Amino acid sequence: MAVLVTGGAGYIGSHTCVELLEAGYEIVVLDNFNNSKPESVERIKKITGKEFQTYCIDLLDKEKVNQVFQENEIDAVIHFAGLKAVGESVFLPLHYYHNNVTGTLVLCEAMKNNNVKNLVFSSSATVYGLPEQCPITEDFRLGALNPYGRTKLMIEEILKDLYVSDNEWSIALLRYFNPIGAHKSGLIGEDPNGVPNNLMPYITQVAVGKLHELNVFGNQYSTKDGTGVRDYIHVVDLAKGHLKALDMITSSTGIEALNLGTGKGYSVLEMVSAFEKVSKIRIPYKVVAPRPGDAAVCCANSDKAFRMMGWKAEKGIEEMCEDSWRWQKMNPYGYEMNNVLDHPHLSIKVGIF
Ligand code: WQD
Repeated sequence: MAVLVTGGAGYIGSHTCVELLEAGYEIVVLDNFNNSKPESVERIKKITGKEFQTYCIDLLDKEKVNQVFQENEIDAVIHFAGLKAVGESVFLPLHYYHNNVTGTLVLCEAMKNNNVKNLVFSSSATVYGLPEQCPITEDFRLGALNPYGRTKLMIEEILKDLYVSDNEWSIALLRYFNPIGAHKSGLIGEDPNGVPNNLMPYITQVAVGKLHELNVFGNQYSTKDGTGVRDYIHVVDLAKGHLKALDMITSSTGIEALNLGTGKGYSVLEMVSAFEKVSKIRIPYKVVAPRPGDAAVCCANSDKAFRMMGWKAEKGIEEMCEDSWRWQKMNPYGYEMNNVLDHPHLSIKVGIF
């Protein structure tokens, strides 16, 4: 029996595939490679020494999605596939709703028609909108602030209705906080298209010389140093949370929302300092206007994940910075080209402290 991983070539998907294979699971990867690269699939195989089937399929293609279930004995699905750029979603709402929501409906139809009712869904802390207080527990009011977040919220509601209609389903809604870091090998990592939206890939691209300086979005928040505070979690800890969720859903029925975070918040400037300490590279930055829609603080209470699945994050911020930097150093252009020798102009700056 196998686990179908949609979006398995993506950042969190690829790290979860590695953990699944190393735990002895059989996997099948489905990805349309719009937001990921086939090279990441090869890297998963290189890290684990394991083979698996990969389908280059769009979830909107009903026939082909159903064919995956016909051709493989799938007993659970981990569903990562989806667009996730907050800013882009504001300009392309229909694209986001169609891709993320309709894609999930097609997947669930295929699961239902093939009697597969175990699902781990990649949700996000963005469903909490602007939290009134922190740390956030799963019973907090939900209210997304952008089309991307609303797709996650809508999918959660769809899955809740699906469970009410058929109690044989077992569903985990995993609400990620801020995933960063990379596999120890440096072979897989975060490879954003274009200029990164998120903090850590932006920092590592400054460090490797691809970007000039970091823009710090605002320093007037009511936080320790005025910059935004987030709950950064190592992507490997996050991947392991999916295996715990898989254990939970394959041994019971029901639907549960679970926060996956560390419960500890770091400000933007604390992240810059932590990265500089680890990399010995100075990260130049300038403070600019706050980013619309940004919360001052967003941190998780993940006690429920520990209570229900025995999961908690184990890796600290230094390890997250070390692992992010190793990936970026080894892959300055992500999966496109993986050797600094291909880009002699890229000098890895070594800061003098
Ligand atoms: C972190 C902090 C920024 C970039 C987003 C999505 C969320 C999830 C994780 C998908 C904030 C500051 C950032 C930069 C900066 N993704 N920042 N300069 O916004 O907390 O969450 O990614 O599920 O849904 O909303 O993450 O990394 O963009 O920002 O100052 O160039 O870094 O203001 O305080 P965010 P982020």
